Amino acid sequence: MLCRCGEEAVIRLKQYRRSFCSRCFVEFYENKVEGFIRKHRLLRPGERVFVAVSGGKDSASCLAVLKRLSEKFAIELSAFHINLGIGEYSRRVEEASRRLCEKLDVELEVVDVKAVYGVGVEEVAKSSRRKPCSACGIIKRYLMNKIPRELGADRLATGHNLEDTVEFFFKNWASGNYFWLSKQKPLLPSNHPKVLTKIKPLFERSEKENETYAKILNLPYEEGKCPHSVVSRWREVGEIVEERVPGFKLSIARGLEKLNIVVDAPKFKSCKVCGEPSSGDVCSFCRLIGRV
Ligand code: AMP
Ligand code: FES
Ligand code: ZN
Repeated sequence: MLCRCGEEAVIRLKQYRRSFCSRCFVEFYENKVEGFIRKHRLLRPGERVFVAVSGGKDSASCLAVLKRLSEKFAIELSAFHINLGIGEYSRRVEEASRRLCEKLDVELEVVDVKAVYGVGVEEVAKSSRRKPCSACGIIKRYLMNKIPRELGADRLATGHNLEDTVEFFFKNWASGNYFWLSKQKPLLPSNHPKVLTKIKPLFERSEKENETYAKILNLPYEEGKCPHSVVSRWREVGEIVEERVPGFKLSIARGLEKLNIVVDAPKFKSCKVCGEPSSGDVCSFCRLIGRV
């Protein structure tokens, strides 16, 4: 397998009908992300962008590629990590996030949920009788908005990848949850003074691409999965179809980018406990934590 330049290839991307050597792949990947950011106007000059780093390969690649493009787009970059209190796993991903930011010379803010709120994801899940992933999702969504905003962020970037996009699409389409589907966009503008604008620069980049980019750049990241992670059937469906129709996942993502679902604007109240935007009197985070 050879790259167009004649070098030995390290990756084949069927959807682009191309094989790449390390050097050409890095160029291809960075050009794709840059073009995507321009197309969807994900960045504005002079803004402070926080990247939510989980310790995994996707957000590691997201931070690295944004760091390389930060001068071109004239943005200031910081990173943010949440230690969710999931034992040894959380210790390892925090360590990986620290090493990543050290290597890329990006300032990192870590919030330790157990240290600040007295409980971690597992205790909260048990006391609220939720699945750990569901409790974890509420905690992450809340803190990923609140903490970077308080630290002066203008927008928050996450490492959501192509497979995440496809999984969300199937799951929400199949259950008729069009409100959530309308949120599956590369750019989610702020709709409240206390809600940060969210961006997903890797919306069209596959896990395989992110992993290859992270490996070529020798980025520190944790390969182990969270002990509570479950393989989604919808993710598998995406892979099965992709096998028969290369480029299927990409076409789902591009379809979502064009999709214009009009939903009623959410009516925000202020949470009576913490003051964050909420649909009810008390936000889901405070309800969750308050149960413990
Ligand atoms: P997930 O919800 O695990 O699929 O992760 C999606 C994105 O959320 C990642 O690519 C990160 O940008 C962000 N993220 C997930 N976990 C954390 C964490 N513990 N701290 C900060 N950001 C996170
Ligand atoms: Fe949230 Fe595993 S990372 S439950
Ligand atoms: Zn609250």
